[in-house]
Amino acid sequence: MQKEIDMLDVQKIREDFPILKREVNGKPLVYFDNAATSQTPQVVIDAIVDYYSNYNANIHRGVHTLSQEATDAYEIARKKVQNHFNAKHTHEIILTSGTTHSINIVATGFTNLLAKGDEIIVSALEHHSNIVPWQMLCERTGAILKVIPMNEEGELLMDVYDQLLSDKTKLVFTNHISNALGTINPIEEIIQKAHNVGAAVLIDGAQSCPHIKPDVQELGVDFYVASAHKLCGPTGVGLLYGKEEWLNKLPPYQGGGEMIDQVTFEKTTYAGLPHKFEAGTPNICGGIAFGVALDYMNNIGFDTIADYENELLDYGTKKLLEIEGLKIYGTSKNKTSVISFNIDTIHPYDIGSIVDKLGVAVRTGHHCAQPIMDFYKIPGTIRASFSFYNTKEEIDILVEAVKKAKMMLG
Ligand code: ALA
Repeated sequence: MQKEIDMLDVQKIREDFPILKREVNGKPLVYFDNAATSQTPQVVIDAIVDYYSNYNANIHRGVHTLSQEATDAYEIARKKVQNHFNAKHTHEIILTSGTTHSINIVATGFTNLLAKGDEIIVSALEHHSNIVPWQMLCERTGAILKVIPMNEEGELLMDVYDQLLSDKTKLVFTNHISNALGTINPIEEIIQKAHNVGAAVLIDGAQSCPHIKPDVQELGVDFYVASAHKLCGPTGVGLLYGKEEWLNKLPPYQGGGEMIDQVTFEKTTYAGLPHKFEAGTPNICGGIAFGVALDYMNNIGFDTIADYENELLDYGTKKLLEIEGLKIYGTSKNKTSVISFNIDTIHPYDIGSIVDKLGVAVRTGHHCAQPIMDFYKIPGTIRASFSFYNTKEEIDILVEAVKKAKMMLG
């Protein structure tokens, strides 16, 4: 049976985002840098103000009322994150400072679990944050990094993945969606095949979470990481999901308060999950606001969001391709609302600066994915990434702004 998808009332939704009312360079803001960070709805801003106005206190530490209120709110947020990602246990959710922090916990944790000659597989579509920590892990352990290559459309070559997998493969890491191109990777197949050779899998969901609601149990994935600020939440908070047995195997990432059981000068024993990985005072307010952001997005519904964003993607692709000399990088049929492009040989920064003067925010550069730019032999792209609060009218403004920039620079 076909799922019923509600129509999204974009004008009503835009009312929820105060920033969308502002002007930039005397023009109404058109915010198309959602893959870098999403905007924040009033309800999340209110939660932040409420925390600092009414119950700002450290958590898990005090018997006083404020501390208990803050602790309860933080643990409710953890539960919301668990429910959203469908983790089996609440303690499998580690609240971190974001995706990069989460990846580094796992990469560092594997130092003593790998031997020289073991193999790690990453994809050619990775963000630097899902390349560099594994290179550092290889340096520490003598493990070897292998890469699943990509084709011209920006898709992974899955037949080469099959050949790379062997009993030497210990870990596989890939993003669900490429931040630079928008390609949706076949993570179900990637996970299944890695498990067939006994390798653990980490999926970087930073770019997919704003569009797709994942189910970590259904995926059977070992580790899953993401950031709140791509999901209408604040910066500086994210999650590491890990299967209980894996999190128990990994040593703590940082030492400090909160992650201990008993401390003496002779020996320290560590706290259980999730606290073992949460040394120091966390981003309490951020965690609470993350929970509120998840509620906000779930109230709209991820099917509704994806349906509307796909409409924007189709419209934007068609309109941008009408500009002569414009080339889109990342043309997989299976992609999300990210359009990376260049015009002739004009430098992306030049286009980006001119469209900014016209109120349009896009990201330009290598998008922390230099190997992808090397593959296409380009210094970078202009990237427009759409969210559910964007409109087709805004895409028209982008197209006109790009045409103007082309005229000035061409
Ligand atoms: N990773 C973020 C981006 O793609 C910052 O822009």
